This record gives sequence, structure tokens and C-alpha cells, in this order.
Amino acid sequence: MISQETDPPATLDDVKGWFPKVDQLLFTWFLERQERGGQSGDLVELGSYLGKSAILMGRHRREGETFTVCDLFDSEAPDDSNQAEMKGSYSTLTRQAFEANYRAFHDTLPEIVQGPTSLILDHVQPGTCRFVHVDASHLYEHVHGDIRAARAMLPPEGIVVCDDYRSEHTPGVAAAVWESVAVDGLRPICVTTQKLYGTWGDAAAVQDELLDWLAGRDDAWHETQQVAGRRLVRVKGKSAARSKPNDVKGLKDRLAKSEKRLARAEEGLARARKELESVRNSVSFKIGRSATAVPRALRRDR
Ligand SMILES: C[S@@+](CC[C@H](N)C(=O)[O-])C[C@H]1O[C@@H](n2cnc3c(N)ncnc32)[C@H](O)[C@@H]1O
Repeated sequence: MISQETDPPATLDDVKGWFPKVDQLLFTWFLERQERGGQSGDLVELGSYLGKSAILMGRHRREGETFTVCDLFDSEAPDDSNQAEMKGSYSTLTRQAFEANYRAFHDTLPEIVQGPTSLILDHVQPGTCRFVHVDASHLYEHVHGDIRAARAMLPPEGIVVCDDYRSEHTPGVAAAVWESVAVDGLRPICVTTQKLYGTWGDAAAVQDELLDWLAGRDDAWHETQQVAGRRLVRVKGKSAARSKPNDVKGLKDRLAKSEKRLARAEEGLARARKELESVRNSVSFKIGRSATAVPRALRRDR
């Protein structure tokens, strides 16, 4: 990863953030599917950090569509728990850093709402969006509100993606997401390790298309499960290099990564050898001293 302070990012891999490859693949599929199907509408991201997912979403904004991102960036959070979360996880975040990253990939910035996501419906009209990414606060009350806002912004066939729906450190997100499924009519389409993709429209029709597409891919593994009487698709990423033996760039990347890992392992080994040597020296020093000491039992003055 390159230094965010000095070098502008050249690829999405250079942007710090939380946006796994399999989700990059799925965002692209969901957004392109809407474009192929002639579905237009605005794009919204709640929680952008340094722009990793926003940069990819921005590639799909078409003529006449608006892309809005909402993030606190370097502003105060609306409550103490949220402020603690900001301080713990995003203390160095600035709006300027987000903008610099975004501009490295796009000529124009998205619409930026700097403030709590509870403000989003003051800026985005109901039913005007096709895709909403919910990835801001991890607190139940906020995520509950964010998913309700997503429902208001999307027509039934729109897509919502909820981040951290199952992570150990985000039980509030899990509670809000599954509550929306159980109580508020959200229909899950698929899940990855990090995200749940859903709709308030016809999930089965989207799943049929998704399964067709996944069947032809060697960079993603999938299965289907039944959850509370509905089909759910589970998708996991596969290493592209492992799945495409003739992909020279993929193999070179893998080689470079393995070489880095080996160099780190060799450094660790050298440190461990040094430590072992110093322990050996101090042990033989102590043994040497006790060997020259006259055992108590043999002392004359007993
Ligand atoms: C997990 S990060 C987003 C990651 C990003 N989507 C990516 O691809 O790397 C969460 C973001 O939500 C923002 N955030 C946290 N609480 C918020 C709130 N109440 N309103 C708006 N933004 C919030 C944080 O500033 C942070 O940038």
C-alpha cells in the first residue's frame, strides 16, 4: 500500500479502506446489470472513508445521474458512542484526503454531504436511486435509520448493500440488518464475508441472473442455502492467479507477494536466531558460574 500523504493512488489497491475484491466484482455486476437493463437512478454511499468503494461506484454514474456520498469525515459525530467509534477507527480521516483520492480517478467529485447519515433524506429525494451502499456507523440505532433511509431512496427494484452485517465487532449492524429482513421486507439476494446484498423487490429474479453469471466465473466460489424459507446465495472470492494458471500478470503479482512474505519470514528468522544465541550465551554463562562455585556439601567449613 502506498503512502496516502504523498503519492496519489494509481489503482484501487492503493486506496486504504475496506472493500474486498469479491465485493468489487459484485458491485460491478449489480451496477452493470442495472445499466444493461436500462434501469437509471442515482447512487448513494453512506460512509465513504478514503473513497475505496466510492471510486468504484463513481465509475457507474451515467449522464443525468447523481452520485451522493455522506460521511462525517473530520466533523463531530452526533453522539458519544459514534464519536468513540470515529476516534478509534478513523482518527486521521479528512474530507480533503477523500477528495484527493477521488480526484485521482474522476474529473468531478460526487455530491458530498459532510455530516451524519441521518441528514441524507434532506439531500436525496425518495424513490430516486438505483443503488445504495450502507457502510457508515456501526451502531444499531444509526444503521437501523440508514437502512430505512435506503428503503425510502430506492424504488422496489433498487439494490441495497449493507456492510459488516455479520462481523464479530459489529453486532449492532447485524441486529439492524436482520431486523430489516425479518420485519421490514428486505430480501437478501446474496452474502459475502463482509456484505449483504438485498432488495425490496424481486430477489429471486436477480438471483437467477446472478447464479448464471457465477456459474461461468473461475474467480468466485458460490453455493445456495435456504434461510427462513428463502434462497440465499453465498459468494466467496477465489485467488485469480490460482484459478487462471495462464494469467501472467496474476502469477507475477503472486510471485511478488510470496517474495515479500519470504523476506519478512527471513527477517523474523534472523531475529529469532539472534534471540536464541543471546539466551544460549546467558545460559552457558550461568552454568559456567555455578560449575565453578564449590557445592555446599563439599565446603570445608561445614
Ligand atoms: C467503514 S468506513 C467506510 C469504508 C468505505 N466504504 C471503504 O470502501 O473503504 C465507515 C465510514 O463511516 C463514517 N461514519 C461513521 N459514523 C457516521 C455517521 N454517523 N454519519 C456519517 N458517516 C459516518 C466514518 O467517518 C467512516 O469514513
